[in-house]
Amino acid sequence: MNSTPATPVPPSNGDEAASGPAAPRHLVSIDDVSLGEMHALFEHADKFAADPKGFADSCPGFISASLFYEPSTRTRLSFESAMLRLGGGVLTAAEMTSSSVVKGESLADTIRVVGGGYADVVVLRHPSEGAARLAAQFSPVPVINAGDGSHEHPTQTLCDLYNLHVERGRIEGLDVVLAGDLRYSRTVHSFAYALARFGANIVCVPQPGFELPEYVVQRLYDEFGVNPVRADARGLGKLAANSDAVYLTPQKPHQLSLFTDARGWEVEHVDAVYMTRPQTERHSGKELSETTYLRLEKRAMAAESLRDAVVMHPLPRRDEISDEVDSDPRSIYFKQAARGVPIRMAILAWLLGRLELGADMSDAPNIGYPVPAGTNPCPNPSCISRTERRHVIPRTKVLARDPLKAACGYCTRDLAFEYVGCSSSGMYHAPGAKAVKQIHGNHLVFLESAVAAAESGFRPAGSAT
Ligand code: NCD
Repeated sequence: MNSTPATPVPPSNGDEAASGPAAPRHLVSIDDVSLGEMHALFEHADKFAADPKGFADSCPGFISASLFYEPSTRTRLSFESAMLRLGGGVLTAAEMTSSSVVKGESLADTIRVVGGGYADVVVLRHPSEGAARLAAQFSPVPVINAGDGSHEHPTQTLCDLYNLHVERGRIEGLDVVLAGDLRYSRTVHSFAYALARFGANIVCVPQPGFELPEYVVQRLYDEFGVNPVRADARGLGKLAANSDAVYLTPQKPHQLSLFTDARGWEVEHVDAVYMTRPQTERHSGKELSETTYLRLEKRAMAAESLRDAVVMHPLPRRDEISDEVDSDPRSIYFKQAARGVPIRMAILAWLLGRLELGADMSDAPNIGYPVPAGTNPCPNPSCISRTERRHVIPRTKVLARDPLKAACGYCTRDLAFEYVGCSSSGMYHAPGAKAVKQIHGNHLVFLESAVAAAESGFRPAGSAT
């Protein structure tokens, strides 16, 4: 077992340059897992599901710690159930208001303590976007992101994909409707990235005003070649009646045509409807007051396109699926929640080194991606890099060189920067300057202002040393 480090533990995901052999594997984003690894996890989950009590000798003596800074029922309890079924033990801090957080302890310090001998794996839910990434930088043991603000929820996505695998036998080429609050639902964001990687088609039916965020749409396009077009969703009946639908389909060559195709794509056949609740804890709720939220009713289920669609929901549900839909054999949301246990058994056993997946990991977008250090001019007020400034180890992901574009290494939103520094020369430049093109990717430093540049020890280009 590692002891508490005096310095941050280099992350193994997305920062290969800095990672050492001792760095644990974390599950912070769905991008941290390759498609082969996901398939292997599903196969193991099948075995756990077939014999839930038969694997109690898998993780003897291992302890998981649940650190939940936000409410949870399913995620926390299914993780704890999974750990107990594997023969391990659990520590729970589900009410972080009863912990040292109220005394002002930082997340970085909490993780160093909990991961430094108390537990062998940390399951973290936190309201700040990128919190799990920051925790992973300080943790000697694997960190599992159980939801970070409205950013990502990768283990719910593995559960959702596992459900598609069980119900449909494949994920490739499926037509999946994502409905409801697509803007703030973290489950939707991780799910959309994964579906795109699997080559599934996504039909977005957002609550008006709660469309998929621009940064998610852009990533789907830039990184996964997903081509969004306006969908003709009349075939979805009442479900899409009050909403604009968008068809997102992995296609090459890349061709961004969001809302430019007047004809649209007809939604004729749906394999799964994934409904989500309004995430009112992440917005004032006022934005919703003038309109009523989408609702999946028995009548909507009569649409021809939904004839053999399964109905999914990460839960908790409010009113967006009417109770009368529960008895419809296509409704699988309670089975979906139950399958959270076997898939989380697989995730825990894997990250604890008790399960060898033996899968190629090269297609995981975060593995082997160079993540240069820099300052972190992240404009997102909900990003952990804004709230835990003292502990932020600058981390940026260069998305494009010409024009230069970079994302925050924590919340993955685009960085807002005015200047670009070179960590090797100590000079800073305007982003469009010729000299910027010559700077090695790992030497790029993004600076929000000349003041920030000076504070970080950079000199303006052309100035004397
Ligand atoms: C989701 C979450 O917490 O993001 N719940 C869950 O983990 N099953 C969805 C939600 O709260 O709406």
